[in-house]
Amino acid sequence: MTTPTIELKPSSHPLPHAQREAILASPGFGRHFTDHMVTIRWTEGRGWHDAELVPYAPLSIDPANMTLHYAQTIFEGLKAYRQPDGSVATFRPEANAERFQASARRLAMPELPVETFIAAVDALVSQDKEWVPSQGEQSLYLRPFMFATEVGLGVKPANEYLFMVIASPAGAYFPGGVKPVSVWLSEEYVRAAPGGTGAAKAGGNYAASLVAQAQAIEHGCDQVVWLDAIERRWIEEMGGMNLYFVYGDRIVTPELTGSLLPGITRASLLRIAADLGYEVGEGRISVDDWKNGNADGSLTEVFACGTAAVITPVGSVKSTRADWTVGDGRSGEVTMKLRKALLDIQTGQSPDTHGWMHPL
Ligand code: PLP
Ligand code: COI
Repeated sequence: MTTPTIELKPSSHPLPHAQREAILASPGFGRHFTDHMVTIRWTEGRGWHDAELVPYAPLSIDPANMTLHYAQTIFEGLKAYRQPDGSVATFRPEANAERFQASARRLAMPELPVETFIAAVDALVSQDKEWVPSQGEQSLYLRPFMFATEVGLGVKPANEYLFMVIASPAGAYFPGGVKPVSVWLSEEYVRAAPGGTGAAKAGGNYAASLVAQAQAIEHGCDQVVWLDAIERRWIEEMGGMNLYFVYGDRIVTPELTGSLLPGITRASLLRIAADLGYEVGEGRISVDDWKNGNADGSLTEVFACGTAAVITPVGSVKSTRADWTVGDGRSGEVTMKLRKALLDIQTGQSPDTHGWMHPL
């Protein structure tokens, strides 16, 4: 099966320069979209076809589109950063392409070739490169996604899909910049169970999470932290981020259980922390480990990590059992050091020794 090529087109309807600059001055997260989008279709028997870079525009969808009913939809999130010489590079797009294939397999969807995923992202970023902000840690957030387009109400894998990439300039994910978030341990609701779709980046996982996130907010917290589905004892991950626990010079992140998302930031930090000389690894951390480590002072910092929010300190915890402050409740030294090391690679301030940056 051949891979479709995507032709760049002259910008057909760019937003006027002044309006774009006003957006880039304070982009927020996921509120504004660039001038173009990529669309690639898949049809059973024909494979991937009709790759296009077109002006950003609404889609027209049949009311019986299967995705609207049965949620056969997956997505990715990655970022393009402005480099010191003015060029643009994306961070680890192959890793996102591979995770997208894994998500597709779990949702019984066709796998987009890695090179097509990267070509689609490259095409959109090249076309809309004026939209890549140049201030500090700002970036262009890229959202590749795929959904079923077959029309019908039978429950089965669809025979037609649409893959798309859209882009949105991004400032800080949490308004207020880097400040510790408070978290609510979800004991009533779980995000994912063994054998479920937790390791896939599937729309339904996020729909299922919203009621617990609302509960976190009702309890005065910023974010929900998920526990394992069986014992409600082991820490899995946060709303849209993985977690790391810092014990002085030793750093541990919850192991991949099959029900949490294998984050690309998480994987990158396992390497960066080792580069910086920390003892780093994956393990099981229970709610009691968190509470007791805090009480005896061995647990010094906790932070969350993900593409959208980079690295965010966790300052306090609430649950039905107990509430506690993490460390001194402020942004920890290790957290901020790792945050800087990661962002320096992404923004080209330090050498890309792992070959993670993909220049356009
Ligand atoms: N966990 C969940 C549920 C997420 O949505 C994300 C965001 O993508 C992450 C973890 C972090 O993954 P990544 O570092 O690949 O962005
Ligand atoms: C990301 O970090 O890319 C995410 O997908 C988190 C959230 C916006 C869903």
